[in-house]
Amino acid sequence: MWSFKTLLALPTILGLLAVASGTFFYPNAQTSLIEHILVDTHGAHSSGFADAITPCTNYVSGNQSLGRTTAAQWIRVAFHDFVTADVAAGTGGLDASIGFETLRAENSGTAFNDSFSFFRRFVNPVISNADILALSVVMSVGNCGGSQIPFRAGRIDATEGGPFGVPAPDTDLATTLSYFSGAGFDQVDSIGLTACGHTLGSVHHGGFPTVVGPEAVTSDNLAGGIHLDSTVAVFDPLVVHEYLNGTGQAGGPLVTSFNVSSRSDLRLYESDNNATMITLGNQGEGFLSTCVGLLKRMIETVPSDVVFSDVISPIAVKPINATLDFDAHGNLIFTGYIRVLTPTSSAPPSTPLFLNIPLSLPVPLTPESTPGTSVFGSTTFYPFSIPISNPETLTSFHVASQTFSLQTSTFIVPSLTTLTTTSSSVLNFTIATTSLLAPSVKVQAPVPQQGTLGPAIKTFDSVAVNNVGRKKGYALWGGSVDIGVVTGAVSVVVLDEGGKEVDIGFF
Ligand code: HEM
Ligand SMILES: *[C@@H]1O[C@H](CO)[C@@H](O)[C@H](O)[C@H]1NC(C)=O
Ligand SMILES: *[C@@H]1O[C@H](CO)[C@@H](O)[C@H](O)[C@H]1NC(C)=O
Ligand SMILES: *[C@@H]1O[C@H](CO)[C@@H](O)[C@H](O)[C@H]1NC(C)=O
Ligand SMILES: *[C@@H]1O[C@H](CO)[C@@H](O)[C@H](O)[C@H]1NC(C)=O
Ligand SMILES: *[C@@H]1O[C@H](CO)[C@@H](O)[C@H](O)[C@H]1NC(C)=O
Ligand SMILES: *[C@@H]1O[C@H](CO)[C@@H](O)[C@H](O)[C@H]1NC(C)=O
Ligand SMILES: *[C@@H]1O[C@H](CO)[C@@H](O)[C@H](O)[C@H]1NC(C)=O
Repeated sequence: MWSFKTLLALPTILGLLAVASGTFFYPNAQTSLIEHILVDTHGAHSSGFADAITPCTNYVSGNQSLGRTTAAQWIRVAFHDFVTADVAAGTGGLDASIGFETLRAENSGTAFNDSFSFFRRFVNPVISNADILALSVVMSVGNCGGSQIPFRAGRIDATEGGPFGVPAPDTDLATTLSYFSGAGFDQVDSIGLTACGHTLGSVHHGGFPTVVGPEAVTSDNLAGGIHLDSTVAVFDPLVVHEYLNGTGQAGGPLVTSFNVSSRSDLRLYESDNNATMITLGNQGEGFLSTCVGLLKRMIETVPSDVVFSDVISPIAVKPINATLDFDAHGNLIFTGYIRVLTPTSSAPPSTPLFLNIPLSLPVPLTPESTPGTSVFGSTTFYPFSIPISNPETLTSFHVASQTFSLQTSTFIVPSLTTLTTTSSSVLNFTIATTSLLAPSVKVQAPVPQQGTLGPAIKTFDSVAVNNVGRKKGYALWGGSVDIGVVTGAVSVVVLDEGGKEVDIGFF
């Protein structure tokens, strides 16, 4: 079948560059949106995710006087999701099944629904509940004093609860080690992982009255939390040192509890005569790297059908929401942002930044005055909006000596696409194409599901479209989907005849 699309596909720089897309997510939608959560943590254009753990003592789900901390909760939730994995069978692990398991005694405490209700709005057709849960571990650790855990995406959400098998304070040592072993962690790994987890947070009387007595409850500690180490909100080696020295929190309530049967950490740490704890103590700050290794293994324990992405690292020069659109006068424009990341130790960019497109003079970019900040450095945002008269020549653009490819034969028109979010959401979209064929469209939306606060993804395949006119050489096709209740970003995907993604947009 003849079309502009196939003609235009030929001259692009094949292979070397990211998959082309009309709405340009670099290097693809999943990586771009996850990198946004990881890197745009504070200041301009932040995603809001890190607000929950800023400062690291913060409790986002209720009164600060409760004595709970969100950063610690996230790590514990991920541990409970992971530890029921059966690695021999290739099932379970980080699959967000924990969202369905909140009523089990082994998952006592408010952490599970607290976390899922905060994560909810970040889940979308390219970011699963399980990826958000894994990312929450990376962000808690990386933003609260620990080192960066490399993050890979691609986890698949469970659709129901999984097996039981989370160790509790009164679980005997053999059973505890057998639970860890089922998830692929031997005794040394289990001691290390537990010490890494227990450098943040508390054991609360509210949830664990057989570990912590009612005397812990005070007016500014209403849930009665006793800290696991003296730096409750800092991911550091102190829990190990305090345990070995008997100083500070002396390892925390799971070592010191009035109730001997509740001293699960003491039983675990002593199970090799403290050899592993002494080794961890001798590592000093090296403990942080040990934790990166163990926590990475924890969040990468997944069902065998998961295919991980590459590691998602901060992107130095990042096009954001770069897309064709029609302006108020019906003219075709290329619009979006370029984000430049400056590492903490370097000076911010001083030379003017230019955006180069074929057959045009370089376009100088003016930075917004407010930067973003994160543990990776500061970010400067350069908005752009460039009139385009020959879209067929716009096969790539260049910024700061980097080349980004795109196609312009089909695009979702942002200014003509709306999601009306009342109690029930209706998506009205418009697609512009130079093709003679009607576009093939798939719409996906995160929606509430029974039994968990984690959304499910609802898919509308082969959505009907109507020709609604022409603009600037493009045929316009419109469609509408009555989605119902929506919890986060909805995606519109245009597919080619072979079912391959041509463009994707989020609304
Ligand atoms: C023998 C194994 C373990 C047992 C029996 C155990 C038990 C507990 C208990 C009873 C609490 C108190 C929860 C609350 O009061 O809200 C707790 C807190 C916590 N656990 Fe564990 N845990 C174990 C291993 C781990 C591991 C391997 C990790 C992570 C890698 C972890 C991470 C955490 C964190 C971060 C907290 C603080 C939560 C908060 O402050 O809300 N735990 N653990
Ligand atoms: C938090 O709880 C304390 C103690 O019960 C109360 O005085 C305070 O008003 C509460 N704060 C908020 C924001 O609800
Ligand atoms: C000690 O813990 C065990 C196991 O959780 C529990 O059965 C017992 O009631 C606890 N004792 C006290 C005094 O809380
Ligand atoms: C005891 O604590 C001090 C101070 O934190 C630390 O330097 C030392 O290494 C600790 N000893 C052990 C055995 O961890
Ligand atoms: C392990 O270390 C703790 C804390 O120093 C101590 O109380 C305990 O007796 C030690 N156990 C063994 C078996 O060495
Ligand atoms: C990119 O688009 C999304 C979805 O419309 C929006 O939430 C976000 O703020 C945009 N990013 C920037 C940097 O404008
Ligand atoms: C969306 O499209 C439907 C059907 O074409 C139409 O009835 C409705 O008014 C549109 N809503 C908006 C907000 O454009
Ligand atoms: C958590 O939320 C789910 C979904 O709304 C609900 O079914 C479950 O009962 C809640 N769990 C707790 C402990 O409240």
